[in-house]
Amino acid sequence: MKNSIRTFITAAAVSGLVFMTGCKEEEMNKESSKTDYMVLVNKQSKLPEDWEDRIELVDVYTGLDETYQVEKKAAEAYQKLRAALAEDHIIIELDSTYRTVEKQQEIWDEFMEEYGEEYTKKYVAVPGTSEHHTGLAIDVKLVKDGVIIDDNDDMTTEKELFDRIHARLAEFGFILRYPVGKEAITGYGSEVWHFRYVDDPKIAKEIMDQGLTLEEYLQKNS
Ligand code: DAL
Ligand code: ZN
Repeated sequence: MKNSIRTFITAAAVSGLVFMTGCKEEEMNKESSKTDYMVLVNKQSKLPEDWEDRIELVDVYTGLDETYQVEKKAAEAYQKLRAALAEDHIIIELDSTYRTVEKQQEIWDEFMEEYGEEYTKKYVAVPGTSEHHTGLAIDVKLVKDGVIIDDNDDMTTEKELFDRIHARLAEFGFILRYPVGKEAITGYGSEVWHFRYVDDPKIAKEIMDQGLTLEEYLQKNS
């Protein structure tokens, strides 16, 4: 989640290599074949109980020397997305990815203390119902002119930049999960930074081109 810290970083850090480590390829492929990339986790639909057995998490090292855990295929796709955007001089970095229920509880408690119940419920999932538990959701931050932009309001203000980022998501199997104007359906306020990996670029493109939520797409195709 976001805080209000803006940090100056060096150009070298921005262009730093991003790479992953994980377990053996055979094991990873086995786990990927069990992963339901279209899983719906929201206020009404909790994380499936056996979820942890059906995903393979890998470490992603970012250009800012941070490490985040992401589901294996989502991690590979993210790195391709990041590289494609970087070619266009748009720098994104990971800000929040896989979360345990305990981690979500910490975030929930912090937000409740700092921002109160209304804001917290609008932007933070009740522990056990966060899409971040799946390993398929990523929050990004921006690095613009060497400055990290990771505050919710500051990122929302960067509309032009995020429009360009959103336009590339589907190509790599990602969708914008909490679009503007869909709060009644998703249960959350707009989050320009929260992307969800659905694996198949064709499905992602249909969702993005038609401005659908995952809920609407699944309903339409059930
Ligand atoms: N920010 C999203 C809703 C989460 O907490 O999972
Ligand atoms: Zn998120």
